[in-house]
Amino acid sequence: METTTTSSAAPRAASSGAGAARAAKSRGTAKAVVAGPRWLPWAKGAVFVAALYPLARLIFFGVTGQIGANPIEFITRSTGLWTLVFLCITLAVTPLRKLTGWNALIRFRRMLGLYAFFYATLHFTTYIWFDKWFDVVAMFKDVGKRPFITIGFTAFVLLIPLAATSTRAMVRRLGRRWQTLHRLVYAIGALAILHFWWMRAGKHDLAQPKLYAAIMIVLLGWRVGAWLLARYEARAGAHTT
Ligand code: HEM
Repeated sequence: METTTTSSAAPRAASSGAGAARAAKSRGTAKAVVAGPRWLPWAKGAVFVAALYPLARLIFFGVTGQIGANPIEFITRSTGLWTLVFLCITLAVTPLRKLTGWNALIRFRRMLGLYAFFYATLHFTTYIWFDKWFDVVAMFKDVGKRPFITIGFTAFVLLIPLAATSTRAMVRRLGRRWQTLHRLVYAIGALAILHFWWMRAGKHDLAQPKLYAAIMIVLLGWRVGAWLLARYEARAGAHTT
């Protein structure tokens, strides 16, 4: 009886041991996948430091007196342009990942997006602080009166929920709704270009806005193309089954 029990229990024990080992191994693999390659923390650290360059540059120019005759204009323009640059870099992550198959790129997306928000906050703070001296009524009058400010302000307001829901916990909590919410980035990209274009149109200087508009069209157009292709393939698949 005992033997039977033992002999029948043994394979079970063995198999459950193997199962446990397999589970532990797959947990380990899953952990490794979540943690990513070994070099990832270093690369992330390097990107984090590199992304502080625009701020360091502003501080350096400020301290060494190279910030120009109109420091507020210089800071507003610099932070505005860097917001746009980080928006473009963030939007480039997914197409680059798909084109190169380099999946680790996705690990940088949140940081880059948060840097876009960081520079947008500096840009807005420069405006509300040094241009409006925290006079919120004057700011809203300006937002209502000058279309390019209205558009920039809208883009900034739309960035807030994206930054607020960028944590892993929020991604998990919102599920599919997270993706829907983060589609706001299309509107933000378009509004950012419009803001830039409108501001420079008044100065008859559209070379840079045209360049960024072209970049944004490629980045957003790629997504629309990928979405249309996926829909077409899904339909074709449905017809063949
Ligand atoms: C996602 C949000 C935003 C982006 C991407 C953005 C981007 C830009 C860019 C690229 C410029 C032109 C820089 C240059 O000429 O080199 C600019 C200028 C400017 N932006 Fe924004 N902006 C944003 C939000 C805002 C907000 C919220 C405000 C204020 C409510 C604002 C106020 C201004 C002003 C006043 C200027 C012109 C400065 C001048 O005349 O020299 N922007 N912005």
